[in-house]
Amino acid sequence: MMNKKVEVLTDHKALIARALELILSKIETAIEQKGQFTIALSGGNTPKPLYEAIANKKLPWEKIHVFWGDERYVPPDHPESNQLMARHAWLDRVDIPAANIHSMPTSDTEPAVAAAQYEQHLQEFFHSLPGEFPSLDVILLGMGDDAHTASLFPHTEVLKVRDHLIGVGNKDGNPRLTFTYPLINAASCVMFVVAGANKRQALDQVFAPVADDLTYPSRLIQPQGELWWLLDADAGSDLTKDNG
Ligand code: 6PG
Repeated sequence: MMNKKVEVLTDHKALIARALELILSKIETAIEQKGQFTIALSGGNTPKPLYEAIANKKLPWEKIHVFWGDERYVPPDHPESNQLMARHAWLDRVDIPAANIHSMPTSDTEPAVAAAQYEQHLQEFFHSLPGEFPSLDVILLGMGDDAHTASLFPHTEVLKVRDHLIGVGNKDGNPRLTFTYPLINAASCVMFVVAGANKRQALDQVFAPVADDLTYPSRLIQPQGELWWLLDADAGSDLTKDNG
């Protein structure tokens, strides 16, 4: 894939610095060209210092719209909430308008209802028709040691969803809301930020010429736009450039 770029950074600090640099350049370009920037955040531990670093920048927050690529199906004040982590690390520390923070709804008793609500919200925001996949400027992704990304976990039903923007993921029986892989693949830029030696085996399978996509769901992420794999050395030192 010509649009796939793999960078292995010396350590977690360098990884975060590079991810920040890339995101800032995407923000500048998008706002120059369209007057706004849209980004979907990932959860987990890896991106927290990245969100803290973004919060330290002076940016035109009124032109920046934040979505989530997945969310645990818990209240927004729950310690597991991706929204809570991003608010503490970043969003509560900057003057971004509340209307620019597009959190995934998790209060309905039915996750499928919440998924449909968020899908409708995206369609309205991006003025996309049913069946169209809007293109976010940047979708940030992490990857688990099982090669899941967002809440696209191995051998789960949501991996088969191709006609919706948002689906209901499943982690060990716990529901999650997630971008479907076709929505992720519609992005202008997909940016994986992956750190830690525990991700090496999964990366080997994701980058292998042949492996099962349902077993290693990050393989499904093949966007038409840019695909960046930013890795620290612990995670990616075995991968050579020609894996790119
Ligand atoms: C989540 C994330 C998930 C995460 C990976 C990696 O909701 O947990 O969206 O996909 O990115 O599990 O998590 P770490 O960065 O903590 O390794």
